[in-house]
Amino acid sequence: MAYDWKEVERKYFMPVFKRLPVALVRGDGVRVWDDEGKSYLDMVAGIAVNVLGHAHPAVVDAIADQSKRLIHVSSLYYSIPQLQLAELLVENSCGDKVFFGNSGTEANEGAIKLARKYGKLHRDGAFEVISMSGSFHGRTLATLAATGQAKFQAPFSPMPAGFKNVAFNDIEAVKQATTAQTCAVLLECIQGESGVHLADKEYLKSLRSWCDEQGLLLIFDEIQTGMGRTGTFLGFENYGVEPDVFTMAKGLGGGVPIGAVVAKESANCFTTSDHGSTFGGNPLACAAGVATVKYILDNGLVDNAREMGKQLLSGLRSLKDNHPIVRETRGLGLMAALDLEEDRAQELVEAALSRGLIVNATGPKTIRLVPPLIVKQQEIEEAVSILDSCLASL
Ligand SMILES: Cc1ncc(COP(=O)(O)O)c(C=O)c1O
Repeated sequence: MAYDWKEVERKYFMPVFKRLPVALVRGDGVRVWDDEGKSYLDMVAGIAVNVLGHAHPAVVDAIADQSKRLIHVSSLYYSIPQLQLAELLVENSCGDKVFFGNSGTEANEGAIKLARKYGKLHRDGAFEVISMSGSFHGRTLATLAATGQAKFQAPFSPMPAGFKNVAFNDIEAVKQATTAQTCAVLLECIQGESGVHLADKEYLKSLRSWCDEQGLLLIFDEIQTGMGRTGTFLGFENYGVEPDVFTMAKGLGGGVPIGAVVAKESANCFTTSDHGSTFGGNPLACAAGVATVKYILDNGLVDNAREMGKQLLSGLRSLKDNHPIVRETRGLGLMAALDLEEDRAQELVEAALSRGLIVNATGPKTIRLVPPLIVKQQEIEEAVSILDSCLASL
């Protein structure tokens, strides 16, 4: 790093992030540059956020235009970009009603509140949410309690009441955990943060039936899987199962912070003053969201994610064939992971970085790739080839 940003961070910033030794200052498409002018192929995209890549004109122009007119307006008034984005999400999903916050964790927090109110109204005050081990739903206290990973919860225990984490892909575990207090089941159809673990089709179908039988809300966290990443606009569309409620964030604003709770009419029980947010769904974020969603849908990026995803997975599989240290590859669309036999994922991430490739370690053995949806075949080949040389040198 040209300037000693490491030292500035040490002095002024809470040490919650484990940083790689680069300061990224600029991006264009699937490439980013650091403050020393070195370029990198970005297969992380802000962890599934920069769906149109960096500095995409559709997003840049939308933000610039909106910022010249109105950046913020209170929710006391109608906001046109907000309503346009709500309409786009409803018209392109199974949902009927939308609420906007500023992040994934806020979207899930909103969904949990909705589920609790639903339980009050329709299940005799039931308030408990069943979620899955290995899941990630955010960092507020409620979403941490829903996040089935002890390492995130431990420093802040006791967790708020009303959450049960059960084994993923195990319908019997959900059935056993269901009581008169249960109001909802919350899960990612592909767990991202714990290393791209896919739900089984039968499992999601059984979950749908169980929630219908018991009168529970089925909530899908689409924060990482949404926006076309898995080769369908929403991840659950791969499974032929519809939730009552789903949440979005990450790619929704093309890089601008925004989150959304989307509910079917039958699940929506929020009425005046039940929920709110000063910044949530502000004109700037929603204008970016409208531009991003429209661009994805109008330019075949969902199909591109599916096709490029196949290339990426086949490239990763070839790495497994050539390098005994690779144990397994997984993924769907542009959400992919590679497991090593040994705890050397961070080493692989650093080796890739030094060769101009950005990938991310989700655990000691696992790296994840979630590139922008605009990625092309040549860039996938370049990424696989760099990983190939890194693996050869591990
Ligand atoms: C599936 C999932 N849900 C929720 C979140 C939390 O989103 P945010 O960091 O925007 O609060 C994440 C973030 O990684 C996520 O992957």
